[in-house]
Amino acid sequence: MDAQKHEEKSINPRGVKIAYTLCAIFGILLILYLILPPLLNIWTGYDMILIICLSLLYIAPAYATNASMVVFGRNGTPIDGGRSFRDGKRILGDGKTWQGMIGGIITGTVVGLILLVIMQFVIWPYFQSAIIGNLLYPMNLDDPMYLGAFLNPPFLMGVLRGFLLSLGTPIGDMIGSFFKRRFNLERGAPAPVVDQLDFLLGAILFAYIVFPLGWMYIVFALLATILIHVLANTVGYKMGYKRQPW
Ligand code: CTP
Ligand code: MG
Repeated sequence: MDAQKHEEKSINPRGVKIAYTLCAIFGILLILYLILPPLLNIWTGYDMILIICLSLLYIAPAYATNASMVVFGRNGTPIDGGRSFRDGKRILGDGKTWQGMIGGIITGTVVGLILLVIMQFVIWPYFQSAIIGNLLYPMNLDDPMYLGAFLNPPFLMGVLRGFLLSLGTPIGDMIGSFFKRRFNLERGAPAPVVDQLDFLLGAILFAYIVFPLGWMYIVFALLATILIHVLANTVGYKMGYKRQPW
């Protein structure tokens, strides 16, 4: 077995089993996630695959920010300046740095800008020429599929959206860390769900103020993020890149 690679002594085998079980469940969910939409498509008349693609496109700048914070923040200056909160624990901890935050915001905004150009010049013209079911029809925010001017916003508004998604990411992430410290969790200690969704909820909240979307896109974005995270971690562990499967 290649299990020795993972220094088994330091990890709890029960945890590994749970991770594998979760991975299997989420693997099945992911398959359903891909199979159900076409079926739903038949039932609802909406193109669900398109909805998944659009929701991933929507939050892509936040993913870019979140991933690049790790790169820019290595050994950076802590945002909390090393200070502790009333409870004697760090306010945020060494995992939240200025370099990570600023590098992440810039990266996410640039990614948002690139995607905006692709949306306006490639995807939107395609939308206009193709017949895409009912997707373009929802005209008010109450509709779960409401798209508004998502694909063809005024240019500066589009840039602002990328920036707000990128700004909301470290803020949501810091709020998550703040609560982790209050619950006595050390920097880097896993807090399932919180770790995966804090940044995304921050990003969506900020962008939503300027650019509201139907709730269906947001639900799919959150779902996809949890699925991708669990699968990536377990596969990463199996392949020997990660020390724990979570
Ligand atoms: N990072 C950073 N600045 C930020 C956010 C992240 O420098 N504002 C970097 C840090 O090096 C951090 C890594 O990205 O260790 C991973 O981010 P995250 O998992 O959010 O931080 P943790 O170290 O796990 O800390 P916490 O327990 O507070 O989540
Ligand atoms: Mg972490």
